[in-house]
Amino acid sequence: MIKSVSGLIEKELFGKKVLLRVDFNVPVADGKIIESYRIISVKETVDYLASRGAVVAILSHITAIKSFKPLVGQIKETLGRDLKFIPGSNIGPDITANLKLAESGKIFFLENVRQNPAEEANDENFAKELAANFDIYVNDAFAVCHREHASLSAITKFLPSYGGLLLMKEIEHLTKAIEMPREGKTLILGGAKVNTKFPVIKNFLNKAENILIGGAVANVFLKAKGIAIGESLTDDSFLEDAKNIINSKAGIIIPEDYIESECMILDIGQKTTAEFSEIIGKSKVIIWNGPLGRIETPELAHGSESVAKAITNSKAFSIAGGGDTIVLIRKMNLMDKFSYISTGGGAMLNFLAGKSLPGLMALNHNG
Ligand code: 3PG
Repeated sequence: MIKSVSGLIEKELFGKKVLLRVDFNVPVADGKIIESYRIISVKETVDYLASRGAVVAILSHITAIKSFKPLVGQIKETLGRDLKFIPGSNIGPDITANLKLAESGKIFFLENVRQNPAEEANDENFAKELAANFDIYVNDAFAVCHREHASLSAITKFLPSYGGLLLMKEIEHLTKAIEMPREGKTLILGGAKVNTKFPVIKNFLNKAENILIGGAVANVFLKAKGIAIGESLTDDSFLEDAKNIINSKAGIIIPEDYIESECMILDIGQKTTAEFSEIIGKSKVIIWNGPLGRIETPELAHGSESVAKAITNSKAFSIAGGGDTIVLIRKMNLMDKFSYISTGGGAMLNFLAGKSLPGLMALNHNG
């Protein structure tokens, strides 16, 4: 059982130094954050801790750029909070000095934790040094819990550890979607990364009534059926799996028509869009990860846009996730129309595939 930070009362938090691991691994263009859903999603936890008098240090990784420095202003604005950025190392005397002088309720923001190679090595010494400046550890970084890294895993050996409000919400909603009855359950998968989708398909063969496939994943199935896919994005290492799944007569539905250009399949076609929308309309629970076409090109976003509309027009309990899927949903102003939007990409898919996530395991064992 993961202990939620919501179980900690003011007396247990006041004046305590809390290391809050979040996932602010956001897309950046021209030095600006272009999708801040992951940031706004942890505001509740930041507010919870700060309003109970904890001294909070927010810690994250980012891959788009090396340092968080140019993004601090935007992060402050998104959280509606004054943050003090501590550049440089996440460990050692500088952090100690800053925390020592801090008044209760003060919020710090630390530098990209992956600047230190010890993070990805899940190095225990690094975790111990990181922990040395704090009294409590809170993991609100569900989106990176599929990584066995020091600030997610080893750290829990050195501090009383809790799940943040967002992390608990993610587990609750995804678990609900997995456990709801098979009848009326529809899984929609697309996107370019085939290897992250097949484990989910396999886990849902007997958990979902319908599995609607688009994107590069669909190309694997089309090829497995002997259909010429030209230069389309695919992954031949899953061809055998695709053949077995087709033969199993599970509820897999692959595109019957598609939009093609330059010898590539780039979106689902009109008939498929209509068929997918009809199934969605009858569904009771819908889980969606990955666009069905190359949505960066507006003419190739029709399939995904129609699916998004069909989901939000339905009465189903709906969950969506994945970076590109969120960008599309945001563009269409449909963020509030889903029952839940996961901050996870790879983590969401691993959870749906039934895999254990190292970051969650660590909280289970040491929390
Ligand atoms: C993500 O964006 O999926 C997580 O932040 C993990 O990032 P990573 O793939 O660089 O480990």
